[in-house]
This record gives sequence, structure tokens and C-alpha cells, in this order.
Amino acid sequence: MQLLWYFLSLALPTITYAINARNIGGDLLSPECLVIEIVVEVLLASPEATEFCESFLAPTTTISKTVTETSSSCAYKYAAARTQKNAAPQITSEPDRSLATPAVLQGLPSSEISQACSCIDIPASDLTTRTHTQTATSTTKLCPIPTTCGNEGMQWAYYQPPSIPYNYNCNGGYSWDPTAIKDMTPSYNSTTTYIGLIDDGTSDISIYGSNQQFNSQFFALNHRGYIYAEVSGDYTFNTPGVDDINFFWWGPDAYSGWTESNVNASIACSGTSATVNVTLLSGQYYPIRFIFANAEENLVEVMSITAPDGTVILDANSTGSPYIVQYSCDGTSAKPYPLFGQET
Ligand SMILES: *[C@@H]1O[C@H](CO)[C@@H](O)[C@H](O)[C@H]1NC(C)=O
Ligand SMILES: *[C@@H]1O[C@H](CO)[C@@H](O)[C@H](O)[C@H]1NC(C)=O
Ligand SMILES: *[C@@H]1O[C@H](CO)[C@@H](O)[C@H](O)[C@H]1NC(C)=O
Ligand SMILES: *[C@@H]1O[C@H](CO)[C@@H](O)[C@H](O)[C@H]1NC(C)=O
Repeated sequence: MQLLWYFLSLALPTITYAINARNIGGDLLSPECLVIEIVVEVLLASPEATEFCESFLAPTTTISKTVTETSSSCAYKYAAARTQKNAAPQITSEPDRSLATPAVLQGLPSSEISQACSCIDIPASDLTTRTHTQTATSTTKLCPIPTTCGNEGMQWAYYQPPSIPYNYNCNGGYSWDPTAIKDMTPSYNSTTTYIGLIDDGTSDISIYGSNQQFNSQFFALNHRGYIYAEVSGDYTFNTPGVDDINFFWWGPDAYSGWTESNVNASIACSGTSATVNVTLLSGQYYPIRFIFANAEENLVEVMSITAPDGTVILDANSTGSPYIVQYSCDGTSAKPYPLFGQET
């Protein structure tokens, strides 16, 4: 408002004088109304301003336009932001005003411009429809996120194979042949969205939130499923120490043909990490399998899978996601595993 007064006093000394005179005269008009009144007088005297008002008061039609962008940041941690962007169309262009705002109207809120313009009685026939463009941004995902169909998590099974050897102190050098459970019917199976189990192994335990309790000694857990790579790059599978032994396979051998000799990473009785980096391609499912076994007491099963952008895809705190699944919804790009006990 001050800016306007400044311009008015420079450009229109006689009108400013008139206003001051009216204020002095104790007129009841509010300062806002006085301002509008001056503006109206200027507008009436200026054909250029009248033209502007015709354009300003013109009825509006809205044209909706969708701009499609391709996301350049295709990665797990951008998934949330990307969804939000798709959900909310944005108005990115203001009404099209081809005429420059006359000096007398500059800095005024549009409600006041509108009020002032409507005071100069422009005939409706002079008002030609103005176009307003509303732009919605739709982002094309570079990497698709698969749908889910109750397939989240990994399948797991509990076994008590007689072949698990004694290993009381877990001093290292421990071994056990995991293929012993391929054709062994497990005593229990279920699914889990997380992996991680730590216990002193002195009494029965619940596993992955099961209601059932299990003997915590001389048992094996077989976990299998698929990882879906949203983004191409190196994924890190990390086992930061284990008690007693853990095996990890990925790719076709994880589905069928897994043995001690083709294991991608194994670790036994160790406080040090076993890490393997695997290069996965965006949009593909890859079979993954973890087998863990414990002999007497103290059991530690801790592992994680981290995506190339640092997002943790699976660890002890993971919840269901489309990235770790039992099978794909189409049933073919990640085919269901055979029943436990009937594996090859
Ligand atoms: C890990 O798994 C892949 C895919 O099955 C296989 O090609 C590769 O040879 C394995 N690596 C090791 C070190 O066994
Ligand atoms: C695996 O990748 C991570 C992250 O890029 C890196 O820090 C680590 O050294 C790699 N480990 C191996 C065994 O290559
Ligand atoms: C899981 O969450 C708990 C509680 O927030 C935290 O103490 C623990 O470190 C987390 N574990 C992992 C593997 O991130
Ligand atoms: C899990 O156990 C149930 C009950 O014994 C059985 O019907 C089912 O086939 C098993 N699932 C798998 C994948 O082996």
C-alpha cells in the first residue's frame, strides 16, 4: 500500500491533493476505498488501462494439461516422494495476461484490481474469454514397483535334522551339510517379513512372532523367496556374525540345486561379517535362500540386504514390501517354490 501511495504522489499530485483535502474534511470513506477511487479515476482517463481491465475481467476457461516427466531418480528412497508427486496435480501456470499491468494497478491485490476495474463500466460484449492453463505433472516411473497380492515376505520352515553336529563352544571351523533338509518334512512352516533371531538357547523360543514355541537347540531354519530389484546396481547381503552357521544363495541355485559347494556366502561361529555384493537388474525377481542352524545354546542369526541407494530392504525390523516376496503375483516371473520337504 505504501508503494502505491508513493507512485500516486509522484504521478498524480492533483489527485493526492484532493484526497488529502477529503481526509481533512472528515470524510468517512476508509483509506482502501479512497485508493480504489483514485485508481478508478486514473483508469477512466487511460485507454490503455481500460484495455487491461477488459482482459482482467474477462471470463476464464480452464484448460487442463498433463505434462509427463520421466523420473531420473529411480531408487527405493525416492518411492514415497514419487507417489506423492503423481497424486497431486499442480497448477504451474497463472492466468494468461498478455497486457502489462498499468503502473497505477501495480502492487495491488487482485481483489482490488478487480474492484477498480469493475467500477469503470466496461460493457460485457467487450470482455473476451481468457484462457487459464492448469498443468498436472504426471511422473513416469523409470522402474516399476510390482503389485502385491499377499505375497510379501519369505517362506520359512523349522527342522530338527539329526545330522546337526555338537558344537558347544562355537570356536569356528564348524560345518554341517544343509542339503540334509531338502527332502525332510519340517515340523512347522510359515512366512516372515523380517529376519533376525538372538537367544541364549536355554529354553523354547518363538520364531518370527509365531504362537508356537520351538526347541532352541539342534535346529535348522530354511528361508526362501525372491528379491525384486527396483533399481539396477549392487545389492549388499551382509551377515554380521552368526552362531552357529548360516548359508546364503541367490540366483537359480537358490531355487534348486543349492549345495555347500555353490553357496554364495557362508559363515560359521564368527564375530566378523560375511558380505557379498550382487549386481541385480531393475525389474527382475531373483531367488534368495538363507539357511541357519544352531547346535547347543546361544543362537545368533542376524542379516541384512541393502539396495544400491542405501535403503535396507530386509533386516530384523523389516515390514512387508513388494521387494521381498514368496512369489510374483503373475506366478511366472517369480514362480512359487515346491513344498518344503520336496525341494531339489
Ligand atoms: C553366486 O551365485 C551366482 C548366481 O547363481 C553364481 O553365478 C556365482 O558363481 C556364485 N558365486 C560364488 C562365489 O559361488
Ligand atoms: C559391497 O558394497 C559396499 C557398498 O558399495 C562396499 O562398501 C563393500 O566394500 C562391498 N563389499 C564387497 C565384499 O565387495
Ligand atoms: C530394530 O529396531 C530396534 C528398535 O528401534 C533397534 O534397537 C535395532 O537396532 C533395530 N535393528 C536393526 C537391525 O536395525
Ligand atoms: C506348510 O505346512 C502345512 C501344514 O503341514 C502344509 O499344508 C503346507 O503345504 C506347508 N507349506 C509348504 C510351503 O511346504
